[in-house]
Parts: sequence; C-alpha cells; structure tokens
Amino acid sequence: MDLIIRQAEEKDIKPMAEMDILCFAAPWSEQSFQQEIKENRLAFYIVAEIEDRMVGYAGLWSVVDEGHITNVAVHPAYRRRGIGEALVSVLLAHTVKIGILSHTLEVRASNKPAILLYTKFGFQPAGLRKNYYEDNGEDAIIMWRKEPSGSVE
Ligand SMILES: CC(C)(COP(=O)(O)OP(=O)(O)OC[C@H]1O[C@@H](n2cnc3c(N)ncnc32)[C@H](O)[C@@H]1OP(=O)(O)O)[C@@H](O)C(=O)NCCC(=O)NCCS
Repeated sequence: MDLIIRQAEEKDIKPMAEMDILCFAAPWSEQSFQQEIKENRLAFYIVAEIEDRMVGYAGLWSVVDEGHITNVAVHPAYRRRGIGEALVSVLLAHTVKIGILSHTLEVRASNKPAILLYTKFGFQPAGLRKNYYEDNGEDAIIMWRKEPSGSVE
C-alpha cells in the first residue's frame, strides 16, 4: 500500500475535521480548517493518503523565519507505521526550502508518542506553559528545533 503525501486542498477540510475528532481531546472545528486551508496565508497543510483514504495530516504556520507546527495527526488504525514521521519530514523539507530557520511547537506534557516523534527530529524542550490546555488544565511543553544554518534565541 503506497503512502501519498500531498498539500491539503479544500476537499480535505471535512476529512481533516473528522480526523481531529479521532485524534485530539479538543478537536478543531470544520470552520477552523476552512480558515486554515482557504484563508490563512501563513498556513501550510499536508495530508497523507493510502488508497485515496486520508490517514493523517500535519500543518504549520510560517511566521517570518519560524515554523510553528500546529498539528500532526495520524488515524488511530494507521499508527506506528512511520506515517507521523513521514508527515513531519515533508513539513520540514518544505519549510527549510523556503528559508525557515527554526521550528517550534507545543505538546501536551503527557503525550509521550508525540514528544518522542519530535525528539527524533531534533526538537528539544525549551519551556513549559502551565495549565495551557483548557479541557484538562494540562501543561504544554514548548519544543524548538534549530536548523543547521538557523538561530534560536
Ligand atoms: C503522535 C502521532 C502523530 C504519531 O504518529 P505515528 O504515525 O504513529 O508515528 P510513527 O509511526 O511515524 O512513529 C515515529 C516515532 O514517533 C515515536 N512514537 C510514535 N508513537 C509512539 C508510541 N505509541 N509510543 C512511543 N513512541 C512513539 C517513536 O519515536 C517513533 O519512532 P520509532 O518507530 O522508531 O520508535 C500519533 O500518535 C497521533 O496522531 N497522535 C494523536 C494526535 C497527537 O497527539 N498529535 C501530536 C500533537 S500535535
């Protein structure tokens, strides 16, 4: 089964919102995805497909020379097959090409799979946002990755 990763389009909005419900305690609404895909010029989203079925997506915002990863999500039935890793690789390859010098993200302190995934790509913990998540008051770990030619203060 071939994995295809491509840039997200308008037709992906609904499946992305459905994927979020399966993947996150506080999923984004379809309206949020509409805004991200159709209006937000800073946003770059990609989807992963197997046999025309969406199995994951990931996205980020390019803010000057920083890439802010918003979400990485893989359908629960397709996890531990390298899809999350493939999505992050494609995001980083794209943003490094357009001159992004560093990448950052926030992740729930309890989200070990995601923390290990990001650590694999050289992201390092750089701080904590206390009680960041409204649904359960969990802390967010802020992680950064500096590109070889980039700089992070
Ligand atoms: C985090 C997530 C995207 C990982 O996707 P995935 O396709 O299963 O990940 P991969 O198979 O590519 O794994 C890549 C690496 O991530 C880490 N990892 C992923 N799942 C893991 C798990 N359950 N336990 C431990 N490490 C894990 C490992 O380091 C793994 O490398 P390895 O296979 O060499 O050990 C997926 O679990 C998910 O969608 N979770 C819910 C949404 C979420 O929390 N997203 C991240 C926050 S924005």
